[in-house]
Amino acid sequence: MTTPSILLRNAAVGDTTPDAALVHRRGQAIHIQDGLIAWHGTEAEIPAGLACDDEIDLGGRLVTPGLIDCHTHLVYGGKRVADFVERLGGTRYDEIAGGGGGIASTVAATRAADESTLFTMAGMRLERMAGHGATTVEIKSGYGLDPLSEKKILRVARRLGGLGLADVRTTFLGAHAMPAGYEGTKADYLAEMSDEVLPGLVAEGLVDAVDAFCESIAFNPEELEGYFGAARALGLPIKAHLDQLSETRGAALLAKMGATSADHLEYSGTGSIEALARAGTVAVLLPGAYYFLRESRSPNVSALRTARVPIAIATDHNPGTSPMESLPLAMNMACILFGLTPAEALRGTTANAARALGLSDRGSIANGLRADLAVWEVDSPAELSYNIGFSPLHSTFLKGTVRREDSRRADAHDGA
Ligand code: NIG
Ligand code: FE
Repeated sequence: MTTPSILLRNAAVGDTTPDAALVHRRGQAIHIQDGLIAWHGTEAEIPAGLACDDEIDLGGRLVTPGLIDCHTHLVYGGKRVADFVERLGGTRYDEIAGGGGGIASTVAATRAADESTLFTMAGMRLERMAGHGATTVEIKSGYGLDPLSEKKILRVARRLGGLGLADVRTTFLGAHAMPAGYEGTKADYLAEMSDEVLPGLVAEGLVDAVDAFCESIAFNPEELEGYFGAARALGLPIKAHLDQLSETRGAALLAKMGATSADHLEYSGTGSIEALARAGTVAVLLPGAYYFLRESRSPNVSALRTARVPIAIATDHNPGTSPMESLPLAMNMACILFGLTPAEALRGTTANAARALGLSDRGSIANGLRADLAVWEVDSPAELSYNIGFSPLHSTFLKGTVRREDSRRADAHDGA
């Protein structure tokens, strides 16, 4: 199926260079053909005789690469308001987890939910994310922790990709936590997940990457070696939730495995960061979880910069630690809480987020890449990191197909 070819006129292009400097060019045009960026340049450079089915005048609005949310847990049952209230009263996240709340309570609610309810709920979340400029969203399993429930989540995630709201990438997170009541050791559980469950899910086309929670309250690096080895043998990109609550020494394992990304990293020391740098692993920072858990230890951004580790930013949307759906809000938090520049924040939700998913076909405005674009009602690329609490999105293009956000835009400006 081919989509109509479109010439976007009178655009301002907002993008970043590999060293995370902001690009802001006015008077630009972008030619989209077969869902890809076929050509882009200044208005004056538009090739004579360029044939296209449609021309759209963007009225000088800013066009960026479509935003990429490279870390979410979008499909789950229930909410965790009770945990939230308990934590406000002083109980720690690990204490709630130890007491049967936390991930275990979401696992119970997710197992109990039928597939159509999960699809409807996650579809609404995905629509709101798209309304904040996301054109690619990664979705992890990990709230099932048994073969059928993990499959249910991944099937829902795949079906969400068919809604035309955003491209969905699926990640198997069988190693999120030990399921309550499991009769066996951690080693038994992980071997079952990686050697029995994962190959079946891969055969059904449900898995694009594999993730684990490497943490004192979940699994340690030694326990995860075989799990990741199985993922690698299947040719899948490897990711991990790493050093969120304590330093685990998991970076060495991830580097050895050639991991695509290491996520959270609040407690990672310089040795861990240097290991990630050597392996070319992307650091995915998740300021929503840091904020929501009222953490005081933030990731060592200056060490990441010195080691030249690419930094990505994601929402980590999940009911327990980051019930946030807006990538621009995550960008704002990354600037305010972690000290990123707006340029690093934009690169973190575009080019570096693509890299965190092992994708080389998107993430910047360049010829031959997917025409996944976001059009914004802002004056400059830095303004994407400035706003809080509303979406200045005008429209998006998903593989060259336009989606308009006019009604949302009207809502956003009603109270202004
Ligand atoms: O990314 N850290 C582990 N996983 C999620 C939280 C899961 C939960 O509490 O439900 C995270 O923060
Ligand atoms: Fe997470």
